[in-house]
Amino acid sequence: MQANKPVPLIFELSSPERRGYRYPELDVPETPLEDLIPKEHLRREAPKLPEVSEIEVVRHYTGLSRLNHGVDVGFYPLGSCTMKYNPKVNEDCARLPGFSLIHPYQPEETVQGAMKLMYKLQNYLTEIAGLTSTTLQPAAGAHGELTGLMLMRAYHRDRGEDEQRKEMLIPDSAHGTNPASAMMVNYKVREVPSDARGGVDVEALRKMVGPQTAGIMLTNPNTLGLFDENICEVAKIVHDAGGLLYYDGANGNAIMGYVRPGDMGFDIVHFNLHKTFSTPHGGGGPGSGPIAVSKRLQEYLPGPIVAKNDDEFFWQYPAKSIGRVRSFYGNFGVLVRAYAYIRSHGAQGLMDVSETAVLHANYLMRKLQDDFDLPYDRHCMHEFVLSGKRQKANGVRTLDMAKRLLDYGMHSPTVYFPLIVDEALMVEPTETETLATLDAFVAAMKQIAKEAAEEPETLQQAPYLTPVRRLDDALAARKLVLRWTPSS
Ligand SMILES: Cc1ncc(COP(=O)(O)O)c(C=O)c1O
Repeated sequence: MQANKPVPLIFELSSPERRGYRYPELDVPETPLEDLIPKEHLRREAPKLPEVSEIEVVRHYTGLSRLNHGVDVGFYPLGSCTMKYNPKVNEDCARLPGFSLIHPYQPEETVQGAMKLMYKLQNYLTEIAGLTSTTLQPAAGAHGELTGLMLMRAYHRDRGEDEQRKEMLIPDSAHGTNPASAMMVNYKVREVPSDARGGVDVEALRKMVGPQTAGIMLTNPNTLGLFDENICEVAKIVHDAGGLLYYDGANGNAIMGYVRPGDMGFDIVHFNLHKTFSTPHGGGGPGSGPIAVSKRLQEYLPGPIVAKNDDEFFWQYPAKSIGRVRSFYGNFGVLVRAYAYIRSHGAQGLMDVSETAVLHANYLMRKLQDDFDLPYDRHCMHEFVLSGKRQKANGVRTLDMAKRLLDYGMHSPTVYFPLIVDEALMVEPTETETLATLDAFVAAMKQIAKEAAEEPETLQQAPYLTPVRRLDDALAARKLVLRWTPSS
């Protein structure tokens, strides 16, 4: 393996008078700049722009695009993030002029096609959730959580119970956004322990619920990648106590068409369209976290929602709507991709996605179970969690192994999450990878486990082949250097 060559930066390649583009000769009278722009706004000296040829610009940006690992470059088994390959045809659909060039202030009659797409997407998501109504407004999973909990409060308020129902129950395996969202709507968070099989400890839950319970937030499969076998019992306990169930649908890639959150007893579901339905996750771009709800919550949904009247689509606010949670109608481009993804797969295709995602995860888990600790040895869903406890005893941290994987051209699994597993490595292969890629990952992980046992210092210094070596991750995230600054 050879280290990546440094990227040619156009700023350093600059040479006076070199040009990538020349303007045609001026064929109109020249107007002095001072006549166009007030003098006080004119620059006093020319900007220090690089003077480069077109090919140097192309190489600069192509080089930059290769500095980061991305799913278009290599395997990306980042647990809980569903970093699957997103078909490019869905990007093309989102860019069709009829979708990309419309404006949210346009009159309804001129955007009937876009409204039809949203209407149908609302219905598809409602059906996948097994519930009765959907809003497309929230802009992310966490935003969906916040919106869902606002609906819960509106529901309890209407029943005169908001003052009394102040507690939100959240399992210790939950994603950090769950307690954060609950705190944002002023709920007191109570942590529900997991049982030995990784599910909700039902007996502990029974003791925790009461007239103070507003609800529970769960993801199923949970962040250990395990399906909670007692989910119906959990739903009954919470409902009997007068609480509601919130389903964090970030792990939706595992269950599509096989089980519906509504049938498990959930009242509110958020979808991460930017995981399950064809928008890249974690790219810093827009996301979308629509929520579907059961009948008793639909009148509180944020508006506007697309409704249909004979052949006409129109905007509607539910009777007791909590109001808007976002400007306009959500991140429309993400909605188009999701619609295209659902339509191109069809119902059977979505089931195949989940089946393959689960198969891939189980394949990897069984191939790696002898090389790492497996805290929950049972069939997993679309992801599974290993522990680097054994390697830690030899001075190798999970972070070291994660960095080493980059030398194999692969992104690391999620590390140190969920918090209840020591030295956690959370692997989510997704359905879009080939058997050859899965086997290459197995080989790399086995080699890393061998290195951890025989030459720990190799791992402690990794990576070796990336454009930059090991960074202080915290500092790098807090002190981003996004601009090139000339030295003189
Ligand atoms: C289990 C789980 N819940 C919620 C979220 C929050 O979603 P978002 O990042 O879209 O806010 C994530 C994000 O990765 C997640 O993995």
